[in-house]
Amino acid sequence: MTETTTHPAGPAEEAAPTIRPVLHYTAKDTWLNDPNGLVRHQGIYHLFYQNNPFDNVWGNMSWGHATSTDLLHWTEHPVAIACDEEEDIFSGSIVVDHGNTSGFGTVDDPALVAVYTSAFKDVSVHQGTQAQSLAFSTDAGMTWNKYAGNPVLGRGSAHFRDPKVFRYGGPGGSCWVMVAVEAQHQQVVLYRSANLKDWEYLSTFGPANAIGGEWECPDLFPLPVDGDPDNVKWVLVVNLNPGAVAGGSGGQYFVGDFDGVQFTADPDSLVPADAGGTTDLNRCLWLDWGRDYYAAVSFSNAPENRRIMIGWMNNWDYANSLPTSPWRSAMSLAREVELATVDGLPRLVQRPVLPLDRGEPAIQNMELCDTVVQLPDAMPGSAQLIEAEILPGTARTVAFRLLGASDGSAATILSFDAVTSRLTLDRRNSGDTAFHEKFASTESAPVKLDGGVLRLRVIVDQCSVEVFAQGGGVVLSDLVFPLPGNLGADVCVQGGTAIVRKLVVSALS
Ligand code: FRU
Repeated sequence: MTETTTHPAGPAEEAAPTIRPVLHYTAKDTWLNDPNGLVRHQGIYHLFYQNNPFDNVWGNMSWGHATSTDLLHWTEHPVAIACDEEEDIFSGSIVVDHGNTSGFGTVDDPALVAVYTSAFKDVSVHQGTQAQSLAFSTDAGMTWNKYAGNPVLGRGSAHFRDPKVFRYGGPGGSCWVMVAVEAQHQQVVLYRSANLKDWEYLSTFGPANAIGGEWECPDLFPLPVDGDPDNVKWVLVVNLNPGAVAGGSGGQYFVGDFDGVQFTADPDSLVPADAGGTTDLNRCLWLDWGRDYYAAVSFSNAPENRRIMIGWMNNWDYANSLPTSPWRSAMSLAREVELATVDGLPRLVQRPVLPLDRGEPAIQNMELCDTVVQLPDAMPGSAQLIEAEILPGTARTVAFRLLGASDGSAATILSFDAVTSRLTLDRRNSGDTAFHEKFASTESAPVKLDGGVLRLRVIVDQCSVEVFAQGGGVVLSDLVFPLPGNLGADVCVQGGTAIVRKLVVSALS
């Protein structure tokens, strides 16, 4: 990895022990970043991830490993693919090789094949380059062997990485397709293979839309629009760092078509730069408008053709400085994504995977006018889910104060402004923000009311707030570090009258 793509280690001092999220995966006492090799195999979800096995800052990149049966509760396993003196193991993906095309397993007992980026070190003959390599597992993902013929695909490039491989079937037969990036050229490069070992170049997509940083961790998958199997569109996900709408790292997407060779974005998902060369980031399509959802990719082999994504809940702007110990960094909740028609166009909607139990409505059909209503406090040891349907009516703002101090001195504020029609998450006074100058921030997204109704699902999990608005058409996710004991929540209406049709607060664990 070169200077521009290195993630420098932050201060190594130990911070005070921090309360861990309950439903967001963290490694026990080490660092993690990107989710890698998300795969469901034999009924088990595997989450591999960028891991430093020796420290809680970025470095010694290897693939950590955790498994789950419900995408909510994870068990950590030993490091799956370890760095060595020649290479760091950067991001990539895993496929189940059902046809034994690679020869690593058998047709009856298919191997799992990881396609990862070898970030070659100085002692390697490939020094200075990044290239794609294979590792395989014949024991359902618990132990891994690097392929002796590595690397299997290089371009002589120092920034060629993050392969996402999937099985493509078209009129001309089926094959493996890889999307990866030429990070500094803001390009997604596509290849195909019959056996995962020999790769043939197909095409290049980009630069397009947000190009203010390196393109990383792409994904490409088909989805029916509104569930219609006769109207399938393809979604190309491109994470970028920096240059995202909220600053620093974030994920954008394009909707279009893929014919087995080339991805073509629909004209309505492309945002041309203005005459001065600037692209209006507010018009690009974002997976998340908050600060902390990056490197998001989807599972291979999720059941019933579901498309389930996980992102890294962090931002390279301050990732190595988060005030947590001994762990550092969490994954997002798993999100089921679908394409739905929004304002006449196919757009992603995202639904967090959540436990089934729910609380009783705290408020039903209540008119609020310049009032504050207390909500149940968040509970230690649980995550909190707030589900609300609100008609802002004549109110200027409807605001939730989350993880607040009892004397009102601090809180994370989620507010809807009826004049600007924007939903804003403000963590400037959320608690500990001083650990990095870029952390105190406020981010917002445009939101259209649906028949006058604002629909919110907010998940508060110790040190994060994830907001899914309007059925998941708009998502905002931020980390926050409230001071111990700051668990208060209320809803406040200002400048007119709003009706809270329904508000349910549930403790989740
Ligand atoms: C994204 C990224 C990837 C790379 C990995 C290294 O966060 O920079 O492009 O493979 O992290 O840890």
